[in-house]
Amino acid sequence: MRVGDLLIETPVILAPMAAVTDLPFRTVAEELGVGFTITEFLSAHALAVGDKKTAGKMTASLDGRRFGVQIFGREEGPMGEAARMAVAIGASLVDINMGCPAKRVVAGECGSALMREPAMAARLVKVVVDAVPANIPVTVKHRAGWNQDNLNAPEFACALVDAGAKMITVHGRTRTQGFSGKSDNAIIKRVRDAVPAHIPVVGNGDVVDIEGYLRMRAETGCDAVMIGRGALGNPWLFERLREITAGRPDPGPPSLASRLEVFRKHVALIERLKSGPRTLHEVRKACAWYARGLYGCNALRLAVWETKDLAGARVLVEEFFARLIDRQDRLGLPPEGERRSMDGEDAAADEAA
Ligand SMILES: Cc1cc2nc3c(=O)[nH]c(=O)nc-3n(C[C@H](O)[C@H](O)[C@H](O)COP(=O)(O)O)c2cc1C
Repeated sequence: MRVGDLLIETPVILAPMAAVTDLPFRTVAEELGVGFTITEFLSAHALAVGDKKTAGKMTASLDGRRFGVQIFGREEGPMGEAARMAVAIGASLVDINMGCPAKRVVAGECGSALMREPAMAARLVKVVVDAVPANIPVTVKHRAGWNQDNLNAPEFACALVDAGAKMITVHGRTRTQGFSGKSDNAIIKRVRDAVPAHIPVVGNGDVVDIEGYLRMRAETGCDAVMIGRGALGNPWLFERLREITAGRPDPGPPSLASRLEVFRKHVALIERLKSGPRTLHEVRKACAWYARGLYGCNALRLAVWETKDLAGARVLVEEFFARLIDRQDRLGLPPEGERRSMDGEDAAADEAA
């Protein structure tokens, strides 16, 4: 897929997720084969006034890999300034968030609130396009519309493209839906049909496996798929999709040993790249993700939440996987491991039994 001059070989993008898609998580996804990653949304205003915490989240991918920075706001000056800051740290793409449904963001008339102001949204795109060099594509991520009665994504996307946007990502839910209900592929198809063919449209919403990816591509005609929650604790989805989209065989789900190996890598990255009191919290989250859906995951999650230090959390996870690998050997379970659902319900049922 080509976004302006930027070539993204694997048509799969890691969805920006606040407090989730930090540099450690993006690195894991990139090393497993995701096509592209984008930072979580960052307030243009905060960046422009020099807020250190926000600037600390604007991180370049490791080893020179290309990446995007997502910004949000509605003030022209700060939007331009934030985009220039992104380019200064090496971003290959600047994405504008026009989809966030959070009350505090909408109250500031940013995020998805901009879907009610297409002219203002288009002006912001133009401001950002003018602020960055011509080879840096400016893109927008938005929703289906404000609510069911205002599904304006197709017209909205066209207005943004006229203003200079080089890629549109559509999450098939409305603002009022938040994260409830289902993402609607039909509205994504309508956007794909409306936007000029040379502008890629990325479909987003509820894709958690290969079938979901294929369905999204087939039902919408989108050029790539963005995956968020489905990648939590399951970054192997990116490896499998990289192989499949390149026409190679599906490597299949990871073994328990591979899960443990990537968990170790993720924790090592957290320890290397993050500091301060949040580190333990980040490691606890990673423990829960990598164990999700596996036999005994709930007990592990509770134990990890009670540990007081990183070493303790690491030991609990090592022991958890050692027990699972032993159990798998004893019971002759299939090599793909025991993870059967994204939400752990099966495992919870197992534990209860
Ligand atoms: C915890 C969390 C944080 C999110 N933060 C952002 C964000 O910073 N920027 C953004 O555009 N979308 C954000 N989203 C929305 C996701 O990018 C994505 O559109 C949504 O989760 C639907 O995709 P999925 O079903 O693959 O998760 C966030 C979602 C979650 C669950």
